[in-house]
Amino acid sequence: PKYEFILASRVGEKSNVGMIQLNRPKALNALCNALVSDLTNAVALFDNDSSIGAIVITGSEKAFAAGADIKEMRDLTFSSCISKRLLEELNLLTSCKKPIIAAVNGYALGGGCELAMMCDIIYAGDKAKFGQPEITIGTIPGAGGTQRIARSCGKSKAMEICLTGNQFTAQEAEKMGLVSKIIPADQLVAESIKLGERIASMSPVIVALCKESVNRAFETSLAEGLNFEKRMFYGTFATKDQKEGMTAFIEKRSPNFSNN
Ligand code: HXC
Repeated sequence: PKYEFILASRVGEKSNVGMIQLNRPKALNALCNALVSDLTNAVALFDNDSSIGAIVITGSEKAFAAGADIKEMRDLTFSSCISKRLLEELNLLTSCKKPIIAAVNGYALGGGCELAMMCDIIYAGDKAKFGQPEITIGTIPGAGGTQRIARSCGKSKAMEICLTGNQFTAQEAEKMGLVSKIIPADQLVAESIKLGERIASMSPVIVALCKESVNRAFETSLAEGLNFEKRMFYGTFATKDQKEGMTAFIEKRSPNFSNN
């Protein structure tokens, strides 16, 4: 398909990682409606493509994404937000079965920070800057910022970030548990692809069950989550890939997973 504001390609030695680069440099990858629809379409295509095992979303060295498009938003009204379901489309990313890695260089602000947090793993370049500046322009985060920061970093951090709009560094983000690794900016994309390749080398069906189980932790009580995990764990024994994985271990060889 032809995209206007993203570049989509297959990367990795086995071409089994889907790469999406946000590509609207003049506006620092601000998430205009057309960009969001390119992005969700590309993710859906990779999600449905059995040759792809993981997805990487990145921006440029200067900006992952500088937020929702302020020029598109300025004249909105409450009722037009309701009737357009403003920015609900972005949420479609969270229904992707395959792991999505956000490789964040430069600014991840507002909707850009929220987009990164919708992904499953965040790797940050050492000069990345995060923040939820909405409060400084008279609004609040609208794509999960107040909720996901609170859940991953606790109340005090979430309040401070959302109420001040102050930016925070990759190093601070790592300390808070928002990002899992900091990488020199020029190696970020390569390392993120390696992570994608590692995940793509596993059984796709088991990867999907594993992702779903971790996500359950954010939706339920511990007892319910443990119960869900146990059922999923039992379910893995209904797959050929579980037999293959354990047989390969016992035979001291590497497994050939089949997605069955
Ligand atoms: C529209 C944007 C934009 C945005 C940058 N641009 N961010 N356009 N929406 N969010 C445009 C600028 O207007 C400018 O265009 C060009 O990108 C370069 O930006 P500069 O400001 O000149 O760059 P710089 O001085 O380097 O500053 C970088 C920056 C700053 C610190 C990231 O651009 C900035 O503060 N941007 C806004 C960040 C923000 O408030 N985001 C939250 C949006 S609200 P021209 O044409 O002038 O060259 C939000 C709500 C979430 O995200 C709701 C759910 C998704």
